[in-house]
Amino acid sequence: MTNITLITGDITEQKVDAIVNAANSSLLGGGGVDGAIHRRGGPEILEECRALRSSQYGDGLPAGQAVATTAGRLPARWVIHTVGPVFSAAEDRSETLASCYREALRVADELGARTMAFPAISTGVYRWPLADAAYIALSTVRAARMKTVGEARFVLFDQDAYDAFEEALHTLES
Ligand code: APR
Repeated sequence: MTNITLITGDITEQKVDAIVNAANSSLLGGGGVDGAIHRRGGPEILEECRALRSSQYGDGLPAGQAVATTAGRLPARWVIHTVGPVFSAAEDRSETLASCYREALRVADELGARTMAFPAISTGVYRWPLADAAYIALSTVRAARMKTVGEARFVLFDQDAYDAFEEALHTLES
């Protein structure tokens, strides 16, 4: 099983093979993690995103899917962009959120990445409740059987997020 670690910090500072971006379908940037990655990673990332939009993702990257680009100036080899679902109290989109993690792991494995950093996808602008998002994220990564990915590092931006992930991990491990 992939070794899961939890830290508080800034995902753009993580020295890993692949950094996962909480993108939007346009792949053309935004705020939060997306904004930080493009700001710190530099224009090469956006250039590759634009190329993806003019080729296989003409209509944008659907929620739940993942695609890799260069990491530009970030201390990583790749950025794996994935689009989380917007939280809805009326519709259960849990499977789409789980797919973000599964697909990001699959893409990382195909690339031969050994270490990767995840943000808490959908828990910011997309308003997914932290406790539920943490449980979905961790149960999905724990269930994945990876060939090369040995470490999945969750980089939480604040103490509330860290506590939610720690609680979910404790529940899953007990
Ligand atoms: N490092 C780690 N985590 C971060 C960072 C960072 N530099 N910046 C924000 N976060 C955290 C947020 O606190 C939140 O817990 O990442 C989590 C995801 O928040 P968002 O970045 O808002 O992502 P999401 O909720 O998936 O919404 C995606 O927001 O930025 C836009 O273009 C993006 O439209 C897309 C939407």
